Amino acid sequence: MAGAPLLSIENLSISLPTADGGRALAVRGVDIAIGEGEIVGLAGESGSGKTLSALAALGLLPSGATTGGRVVFDGRELMGEGGRGAAAVRGRDLAMVFQDPMTALHPMLSVGRQMTEHLVQHRRIGRAEADRIAIAMLDRVRIPNPKEAMARFPHQFSGGMRQRIAIASALAAGPRLLIADEPTTALDVTVQAGILRLIENLRRELKLSVLLITHDLGVMSALGCRGRATLTRAGCSTRCRMAAPPITRCRHCPARRPRSAASPPAAPSIRAAALPRISAAPTFPNCLPWARAMRSPARWIRSRW
Ligand SMILES: Nc1ncnc2c1ncn2[C@@H]1O[C@H](COP(=O)(O)OP(=O)(O)OP(=O)(O)O)[C@@H](O)[C@H]1O
Ligand SMILES: [Mg+2]
Repeated sequence: MAGAPLLSIENLSISLPTADGGRALAVRGVDIAIGEGEIVGLAGESGSGKTLSALAALGLLPSGATTGGRVVFDGRELMGEGGRGAAAVRGRDLAMVFQDPMTALHPMLSVGRQMTEHLVQHRRIGRAEADRIAIAMLDRVRIPNPKEAMARFPHQFSGGMRQRIAIASALAAGPRLLIADEPTTALDVTVQAGILRLIENLRRELKLSVLLITHDLGVMSALGCRGRATLTRAGCSTRCRMAAPPITRCRHCPARRPRSAASPPAAPSIRAAALPRISAAPTFPNCLPWARAMRSPARWIRSRW
């Protein structure tokens, strides 16, 4: 990577309140650096803190979360200042395709409404111009009859099409960096391949940087994640080359026996102690608590972008 990275996450830690009044460290020591036009993979097992790390960059952590470390986007600190740094770039320069295409779109809003609300907000353009941009973006992600699609609702599309719409929505404001959180997980394999091709094509055409979150190392290598991966396990991270064995010892896990060349790589162990229950209201999706998101869809969009 030549020069300073576009996004750099340094020694990120996130703790959340637990049900017994204490705190649980959900993420610790995560380092990620993404250059202009680069695609970097963030892999790890379920619950290891991949989504929380991305939400920290966007300033969308659940209430009560406390953070340590730094997130810098194009020279600008995103954490601290009460999240004002992240709010300034979110949706405009830094966009996210949220995990799970079934809930990434609000069920009560038409596709057109959820695609244009943040465009009007960020680009300060009129509805007609926002509609034009949204239709062009839907066409780009190959949604048939994009004009008619604007008036339809998420349940009227297949899972793969919903994922394409979520990608179009994230890209409509012309961000420089896209965070794609498990963009293929809920989809069948043929649809998965189409979505991966789409992300790669958009990255080349729009000169985007991409942080690809996945638990599937095959997806990372299919997208040619520059041979680099940041792997998280139990909320800690390590770097490895894709050519190397995928799981290497992370700096927070207990030391393992040295590996002989012949033996398979040892996965870092996690202590079998019960994990603390983290207290928080269920969120839909990743921001406003569910009941409020349902009551006020427009507020939901504004909170996300
Ligand atoms: N809104 C929230 N409130 C309380 N705890 C949360 C919240 N979001 C995540 N957590 C907890 O933080 C930890 C990390 O969650 P996170 O969603 O980042 O995992 P992940 O690596 O993205 O997992 P997956 O691969 O299943 O998506 C988990 O233990 C999870 O239960
Ligand atoms: Mg996740």
